[in-house]
Amino acid sequence: MGVLYTAIQHSHSGLRWIVLVLLIAAVLRAVSRRRSGVVYPGKDRLALFAFISVHIQLLLGLLLYLWLSPYGIAADPIETAGTSVANYYNYVHWIVMLLAVTIITVGYIKAKKQAELNKGWKTIAVHYGIGLVMILLAVPWPFYPGLESVGWS
Ligand code: HEM
Repeated sequence: MGVLYTAIQHSHSGLRWIVLVLLIAAVLRAVSRRRSGVVYPGKDRLALFAFISVHIQLLLGLLLYLWLSPYGIAADPIETAGTSVANYYNYVHWIVMLLAVTIITVGYIKAKKQAELNKGWKTIAVHYGIGLVMILLAVPWPFYPGLESVGWS
């Protein structure tokens, strides 16, 4: 199980960059398309890739949280009690990330139905933008106090 844990932890860590790049690109594209008056095509390929990447990240995160990670629900409450890393993973990271993925999902589905109204780009820009900010804030960056040991592996 150690190898699987390491593999999934590294994938989850590395995929953050793809998620961030795709979300930034999708937001910038939605803003510029809307400005230039292009009609939303019903589904946008970049928005779809960003949507898929956050869902893969969610799946990997759930595997870590529910099964593999020593910081997830399997954490030894005595050993991890009161440590900032344990508190962070138990109360902050997954809740904020789950909310962000939900907002992005709602945005993608809503925009699909707004094709004729040409509101789709705005819906993508707003929902993906909010999701992006939440994800940026909830990534365990090494400069967060108490999280020096995580974030760059
Ligand atoms: C788009 C959403 C997400 C991003 C960008 C993200 C990013 C990260 C990053 C960068 C780490 C540090 C990995 C390392 O270097 O050790 C991490 C760890 C972790 N994440 Fe996420 N995450 C996301 C969503 C989630 C969700 C939804 C869950 C749970 C349901 C979750 C559970 C965890 C757990 C348990 C760890 C600790 C892994 C360990 O070191 O044992 N993540 N995440």
